Amino acid sequence: MKGIILHGGHGTRLRPLTHTGPKQLLEIANKPMSQYAVEDMVDAGVKEIAIILGDVFPDKVKEFYGDGSKFGAKITYVYQDKPAGIAHAIGLCKDFVGDDKFAVYLGDNILKGGIKSYAAKFRQSESDALILLCEVKDPSRFGIATVRGEHIEKIVEKPKNPESNLAVIGIYFLTPSIFQIIKNLRPSWRGELEITEALQNLMISGRKIEFGYVTGWWKDTGTPEDILDANRFMLDDVRTDIKGSVESDESLQGRVSVGKGTKILKGSLVRGPVNIGENCQINSGVYIGPYTSVGDNVIIRKGEIEGSIIMSNCEIDTSTRIVDSIIADGSKIIDTPNSSPKGHRFLLGERSQVML
Ligand code: TTP
Repeated sequence: MKGIILHGGHGTRLRPLTHTGPKQLLEIANKPMSQYAVEDMVDAGVKEIAIILGDVFPDKVKEFYGDGSKFGAKITYVYQDKPAGIAHAIGLCKDFVGDDKFAVYLGDNILKGGIKSYAAKFRQSESDALILLCEVKDPSRFGIATVRGEHIEKIVEKPKNPESNLAVIGIYFLTPSIFQIIKNLRPSWRGELEITEALQNLMISGRKIEFGYVTGWWKDTGTPEDILDANRFMLDDVRTDIKGSVESDESLQGRVSVGKGTKILKGSLVRGPVNIGENCQINSGVYIGPYTSVGDNVIIRKGEIEGSIIMSNCEIDTSTRIVDSIIADGSKIIDTPNSSPKGHRFLLGERSQVML
C-alpha cells in the first residue's frame, strides 16, 4: 500500500500563521502536524509516500522531510500548481500509485490512535474505498455521509440541511479505480475537484465503499481554535521526561516534558500537562499552566501562560497573563519600561489578532 499526504492548500483561516510557512508544519505539542500523518503511515506499514506540495513555502516542507529516511519512509514530492481541490491533488498521483492500493491523509488532520487497524482492514478488503466517519457537532462544515445499516447511501459536501452528523474525515483508503472518476469530475461552486463528489460518483458507478467509525479523537485543524484544541488533546498524552535541568523539584507539578539544554530555574512553577522544547530558559517567578507547549530556544523571563502554544525562539517578559494564545516563531512579548507613555505598543504582522 502506498501513501499520499496533502501538504498544499491556501491556509487562509490560519493567517497570519501561514504567512511564513504551510499550516501543516505548525507544531502541535512540539511536532509539526503533518509529522503525525507520516508517523501514522509508517506505523501502518505504508512507507512509500508522496507529499503534495502547494505554493505556500513548499521548500520548507522538502527541507523538513527530505527523502523521508529520517522518518523511516521513502518520500517523493508532487507539485500542485494551484489548490484545485483534494481530488485534484490525488489525481496528480496516478503514476506514483500505479496498481497499488493507497492511503490518503490530509496533512492538517490528526487522528489519535493512528491508522494501523484501518490499513490492515483495507489490505484484506475487496472494496474500492474505505472511509472513516466521525460524529461532529457542526455537520454543515464537513462532507457528510448518510448511512443505512452497513451501507453508505450518499455523501454530500458541506450540506445546508445535513441528513446526519457523520463527517467523512480527511483520511481515505482508495484503489486506482478512483482516478477515472476524478478525471471526469467538474469543479464545484468553490472551484475545486471535491473528494466527496468523487466518492459519491464511485458509489454511483457501482463500486463498493466500506466505512469505519472513528471512536477516538480526530481533529481537522483549519482554524486557530482547532490548533489549540489539538494541542490540548495531544498534550493529554505527554509523559514526564526531563532531559534538561530543573533546579528545584517543586517547580514541576503533573506531567511535564523538558527538552535537552532547557533550564527551569528555582521559584518557577510548571503545572502539566506541558511540553517544553530544547534550550529554553524559564526564570524564577514564571508560571506555565496546563496544556501549554513551548518550542525550542524560548526565554520566559517573566510571565503567566496557560493553554497556549509558544513556538520556538520567542521571548516573554510581561506581567500580562497569556491564555489560549498562539505565539509564532521569533515573537516577543515584553512590557515597556515605566518611563514610556501609558498604553500597549504593538508591532504586528498582517492579519494578526490581539485580544486585550
Ligand atoms: P482545506 O483546509 O479545505 O483548505 P485550505 O488549506 O486551503 O485552508 P483554508 O480554507 O483555511 O484556506 O484543505 C484540506 C487539506 O488539504 C489541507 O491539508 C490542505 C490540503 N489541500 C491540498 O493539498 N490541495 C488542495 O488543492 C486543497 C484544496 C487542499
